[in-house]
Amino acid sequence: MAWKTIEYQNGKVTLIDQTRLPGEIKFVTTSDYRVIAEAIRKLRVRGAPAIGIAAAFGVVLGAMEYQEASDLPKEIEKVIAELAGTRPTAVNLFWALNRQKAVLKSAGSKSNVELIALFEAEAKVIAAEDELINRRIGENGAALLKDGMSILTHCNAGALATGAYGTALAAIRVAVEQGKQISVFADETRPLLQGARLTVWELMQEQIPVTLITDNMAAFVMSLGKVQAVIVGADRITANGDVANKIGTYGVAVLAKEHKIPFYVAAPLSTIDLSLKTGAEIPIEERSAEEVTSFGGVTVAPAGVKVYNPAFDVTPAKYVTAIISEYGVAKGDWEKTFKEWRKRSEK
Ligand code: MRU
Repeated sequence: MAWKTIEYQNGKVTLIDQTRLPGEIKFVTTSDYRVIAEAIRKLRVRGAPAIGIAAAFGVVLGAMEYQEASDLPKEIEKVIAELAGTRPTAVNLFWALNRQKAVLKSAGSKSNVELIALFEAEAKVIAAEDELINRRIGENGAALLKDGMSILTHCNAGALATGAYGTALAAIRVAVEQGKQISVFADETRPLLQGARLTVWELMQEQIPVTLITDNMAAFVMSLGKVQAVIVGADRITANGDVANKIGTYGVAVLAKEHKIPFYVAAPLSTIDLSLKTGAEIPIEERSAEEVTSFGGVTVAPAGVKVYNPAFDVTPAKYVTAIISEYGVAKGDWEKTFKEWRKRSEK
């Protein structure tokens, strides 16, 4: 790829502005953590792992800004609280901020300069780890994808949503690298069109065959036998295997079951939230009415209409064929497998 979703250099974070894609490749460079918080809120940077990485670097920028503060830890706590208030559903945001909180906790009586260096090192590790994790997810996921398969995906769980190759799209990328003929159906993903704008853009750059459909076409496309597997990412997975992902994912999972098509979820261990038993406990972000009442900047609904705009839905575990992480492939027995993965990660 000729671009990177998030880059950090010498106290500055550079993000590709995903709200401008595919029309314009524009980067935001900042040393202000508030700009990072705003970028997360506005979806300039989006996708669960990418949000986590951006927030981890946001803490670094905040620490640098308050370098001279007499109580840096107190300032950092405020910075973390602001970043944590941006989006509620993707648990990777809180996971990354908790890693920075752990740095703060273990820092003892370090000087401000030393503390900043520790935050910076941790954020760099989070970003570097994500690249390796993407690769492992790609390898584990590719093993499920056979030569000649056509795969449907929803939203964007690609390079733009992570630090490197993506999660769902990493599986497709690795399968293609292995010489398999893979083609993709991308749901456009209303209301913000992450499928049409981002997934299609990413795949076309790599010449991976992709066909764009609107969300309401998925059932018919499946009924024609044109899809052999579904693979999506996740924003939060609970102990019982329920999966929160972009709104519309649940419908795709139900359709996949009806058509006897495997429904795969690819996500890093950091997306699994063992503190929640079921998907009913996941906070679901609701976004502005304008996202629904307009399309491409043009208003398409009568002014004043009542709107409900949940950004995510929860797919019950019974519709999930397998969850692919960097630790392997779980096919049921969710909590037990997740705990085994967690144990391995702590070694
Ligand atoms: O609102 P978004 O664009 O941040 O939603 C993103 C998704 O739902 C992705 O599928 C998910 O974060 C997984 S990204 C690897």
